[in-house]
Amino acid sequence: MPVPIDYAALVRPQVAKLKPYTPGTTVSQAKAKYGLEHFVKLSSNENPLGTSPRALAALQSLGELQIYVDDDHHELRERLAAPHGLQAANVLVGHGSNDVVRTLFTALLVPGDEVVVADPTFSLFPKDAMLFDATAVKVPLRDGVHDLDAMLAAVTPKTKLVVVVDPNNPTATAVDRGAFERFARALPERVVLMIDQAYREYMPAGSVEGAAYAASRPATIVLRTMSKIYGFASLRFGYALGDAALLAYVERVRVPFGVSRPAAVAALAALDDDDFLRRSVANNEAGKALLYPAFERLGLHAYTTAANFVALEVRGTATEAYETLLARGIVTRSGDALGMPGRLRITIGTPEENALLLDALRSLAPAAA
Ligand SMILES: Cc1ncc(COP(=O)(O)O)c(C=O)c1O
Repeated sequence: MPVPIDYAALVRPQVAKLKPYTPGTTVSQAKAKYGLEHFVKLSSNENPLGTSPRALAALQSLGELQIYVDDDHHELRERLAAPHGLQAANVLVGHGSNDVVRTLFTALLVPGDEVVVADPTFSLFPKDAMLFDATAVKVPLRDGVHDLDAMLAAVTPKTKLVVVVDPNNPTATAVDRGAFERFARALPERVVLMIDQAYREYMPAGSVEGAAYAASRPATIVLRTMSKIYGFASLRFGYALGDAALLAYVERVRVPFGVSRPAAVAALAALDDDDFLRRSVANNEAGKALLYPAFERLGLHAYTTAANFVALEVRGTATEAYETLLARGIVTRSGDALGMPGRLRITIGTPEENALLLDALRSLAPAAA
């Protein structure tokens, strides 16, 4: 018998310490656990209306998958840049925005760097910082919102990056536009400002337009994804907008052919799908108009959402509430797993899904009217 290898000693020490990313419960896991035929998945902020029909139509006529994609993606990058007065050179593409973050961190971080993040926020940022031996400096939210003054105060000579997730995941809250403007001005020029706007299309008028900062402040990176409103969570396509001179360096570490041709072709088609975008935003607005008054009647607080999900307070622990909803066929995410105890993160669904959610919540909150 060969001597067993100590793989924990073989991999990089940072990797040995890392906890695996835990995604939300999948429908097949929920079915296996509860034996129900039908589940409503409100756990990962996907678009309940599906994928852009234009993207799906473009995929139907796709052939020649044996040919490598033109990895320059010039037309797509131009198309993504144009609405913001930017050029193709201002766009970095990736296999979802998670991949773009990994690429950016690979290019930017050295051991000892500090990355200032909110707490809680999207867990990818502190986790990927650790992978590069950088320190995630976690700044608690104030009333569920990024505390921009405290984040600014947390900047030291070692700070390489400050990350603002707007709207934030898991709280769905957005920062105030004026406060953000002051924050961006006050941030030292050498600090990279990363703004993750995965839910930008759902944000109300008057929200921060990250792309405008990518155009005007050097060392600013805006992350966008088509996973959410365009329904590309499985197709995978995300991108960053930023200074061409910085992105030219980052491009050197991008995995070649990381964006597949199906994803690129579907993305280009979806960008013309104004009708799908309009319907998706309208569905989300109708969901908010139904859910928020109902939450109030139940006596359950939810932060004001600027996205397609809510962070809802529950009675008892979040995990108990999550399990009770799961047993009734509704998959949500427990805030216990997201640094948000006492709350569930719930995607806004179709009118039918939202009605089922409210029925289930009524049974969870018997004390309320
Ligand atoms: C804030 C935020 N950024 C990025 C992502 C992931 O994006 P992608 O699917 O493009 O990797 C999510 C998805 O949950 C998110 O909430």
